[in-house]
Amino acid sequence: MSESAAQEISMGRRQLLSYVTGGAIAATTLAALYPVVQYFLPPSSSGGGGGATAKDRAGKDIAVDKLLADSAPIDRVISLGIDVNGGDATYIVINDKQIANYGINAVCTHLGCVVPWDTGAQLFKCPCHGSQYNADGSLHRGPAPMPLALVKAAVQDNHVVFSPWTEQDFRCSDLWCNKDPYWKK
Ligand code: FES
Repeated sequence: MSESAAQEISMGRRQLLSYVTGGAIAATTLAALYPVVQYFLPPSSSGGGGGATAKDRAGKDIAVDKLLADSAPIDRVISLGIDVNGGDATYIVINDKQIANYGINAVCTHLGCVVPWDTGAQLFKCPCHGSQYNADGSLHRGPAPMPLALVKAAVQDNHVVFSPWTEQDFRCSDLWCNKDPYWKK
């Protein structure tokens, strides 16, 4: 091999090495920046991170302005949300004409019937065996053993986005009650 040919090969190797090194640095930098970039990106309409946009019975996204116009000042409106307790039927909680920061899973903790909201009584009343829940989903009367499960609710772009509730149960005020959400997976 001539000297110039050997030099060319050596140049080629050096270039390749510098590309590889450069690529590795770029990849590392990108990986480090990823959480920062994620932080500034607006959440997608599907909510991301296990979130879901509340839908009506026809499977259409519920519009918050229309919902508030059609609902009582204090209301509980059933929607398709996220499955946290064996079913995705989820109540949107409206207090003083505003969407609360939590939603209520509609699956009865007794044997799994979907629990209707009774506007007059301001209670959820299970038609199957008579369990009742207060307006925040806490247990009012058995045989159901536990409160209705919670989900987080946030208003984004005129839609309600549900995501899993993993914090302590804010309805649990007694010393004996279990603040850790039983529905947490
Ligand atoms: S399923 Fe609701 S009370 Fe039995």
